[in-house]
Amino acid sequence: MSERPDLSVKVGSLTFPTPILVASGTFGYGTESPELTGARELGGIVTKTLTIEPRRGNAPIRLHETPAGLLNSIGLQNVGVQRFRDEKLPKLRELGVPIVASIGGKAPEDFVQAAEHLRDVPGIAALEINVSCPNVKEGGIEFCQRPDSAAAVIRAVRDVATVPLWAKLSPNVSHIGEVGRVCRDAGAEALTAVNTFVGMSVDPRTRQPHLPGGTGGLSGPAIRPLALAKVWETVRVTGAPVVGCGGIATAEDALQFLVVGARAVQVGTVSFRIPDAARRIRQGIEEFLSREGLPGIESLIGTYQPPQ
Ligand SMILES: Cc1cc2nc3c(=O)[nH]c(=O)nc-3n(C[C@H](O)[C@H](O)[C@H](O)COP(=O)(O)O)c2cc1C
Repeated sequence: MSERPDLSVKVGSLTFPTPILVASGTFGYGTESPELTGARELGGIVTKTLTIEPRRGNAPIRLHETPAGLLNSIGLQNVGVQRFRDEKLPKLRELGVPIVASIGGKAPEDFVQAAEHLRDVPGIAALEINVSCPNVKEGGIEFCQRPDSAAAVIRAVRDVATVPLWAKLSPNVSHIGEVGRVCRDAGAEALTAVNTFVGMSVDPRTRQPHLPGGTGGLSGPAIRPLALAKVWETVRVTGAPVVGCGGIATAEDALQFLVVGARAVQVGTVSFRIPDAARRIRQGIEEFLSREGLPGIESLIGTYQPPQ
């Protein structure tokens, strides 16, 4: 086949030039060394989760490496939604790739206020609602762990937002498909699955945890098979467009998520080790499609054949 395969994908009402986006919190504000990271060749950039007030995040130590994954407890460090809009976004827009702004908060009102600051702001294609953050009003458990509280956030943001909403789901639940369905019914156009898995690591000499908070969020290759199963469940149960995320490091990994039905993927932790990993994954997918003689990525998405 002489023509290059078509990598463009539809996620709900939006079209992305390629299915490879970068995940929230793992790509700075997207503008650091775009030549090194290949940022201009990305399908999209999801920003760090933005909150109403700037946040310094948790005290160090905030990262701990485990054999096949990274434990983090960054604590939503960010410059705040207004500074993002006024200082970071103009440069990010210059890259010419779709921008998905991730928003978070401790109560539904925080999400609404953050969404209001981004209302009608040029260059923002969608809002990713991080319902994986703790809800202080309900004792600090993640919004996602109570489907009704996740839905309440989506509904409240839906009323003020002018762009499609994506709900970013936590894997730390028994039935992710059920949470996804409720979020879709509340007005999320797409579902991002998944955020980090709760993990823990302890130093047996000091008897203390490696992260001061005890537990953290596990990401990286260790979670890939777990994430893939969660994505498959979300696709199967909800029928909604799903954006897959979790441990993707190679084109082969990304293809697994697309085959089970994710319409796009987000690349996270691997970018810390290989800054242009997402670009390389995109190239690898293009090569795979050419080798397979497929005209484009759409002919591969959702082609998984589950056992009968
Ligand atoms: C250091 C770090 C910071 C993160 N910050 C956020 C964040 O602000 N908001 C969010 O929704 N997810 C955040 N995540 C989760 C990632 O977006 C992604 O869902 C998760 O790491 C799984 O993908 P990966 O294994 O490819 O990294 C963060 C992950 C890491 C490692």
